[in-house]
Amino acid sequence: MAIPFIKALSAFAAAEGARDPDLARPMGLLGDALTRVVPSAGRPAQPTQPPTQPPTQPVVERHLSDALAAAVGTAGDLIASVVDEVGWAVPYPEYAGEPDMDAMRANYSYAPIIGSAEDAISGGAVAAPYLSDEVFVGLVLQGPGCDYPSHVHKSEEIFWVTAGTSDWQMGDQWRVEGPGGVIHHGSGVRHATVTRDEPLLMLFAWVTDPGCIPVIVRR
Ligand SMILES: [Fe+2]
Repeated sequence: MAIPFIKALSAFAAAEGARDPDLARPMGLLGDALTRVVPSAGRPAQPTQPPTQPPTQPVVERHLSDALAAAVGTAGDLIASVVDEVGWAVPYPEYAGEPDMDAMRANYSYAPIIGSAEDAISGGAVAAPYLSDEVFVGLVLQGPGCDYPSHVHKSEEIFWVTAGTSDWQMGDQWRVEGPGGVIHHGSGVRHATVTRDEPLLMLFAWVTDPGCIPVIVRR
């Protein structure tokens, strides 16, 4: 069964693994897991339109169209090909009421593409259109001027930035990444993202431990 998006993502993973030695192993994990991805129940293998109106969020209403228009590269093309199939959710419901996290959650959303039937991070608020218990792949849209504080998770993570320039923390180091940037976080590495004056649109892949719930680091 050839799912066009999964086929295109597999080719992208292979190319990324060949392009950057740092990505060879994680892209091998992703490519292998993609051979076992299936559409979610009730979804045709080659959907022509979303089966239901997907959930959305205020940050998506405000910034997604501009970010899509600005998106670059093969990752941008992959996002454009799947964005109408996904639903958007807000992470960290367990931190609601904490002022910095309320501000972040009002200006940040993610959309599972490949994941479990019940999305753990949002408490089941959204579902992935394609299923895997080995990897978690999706989109992130972070609005301008949004501080996503330092956090950790066991999952090994790769981000492909398609739009928006932001400040990125990895461990104790900060750097700037913009469109075309690729960020690879090993398991348990502390990281943070602070957007500037543009929305940040990314494709992400967790290639291990896809059921993790990230934990904010306060010190
Ligand atoms: Fe992360």
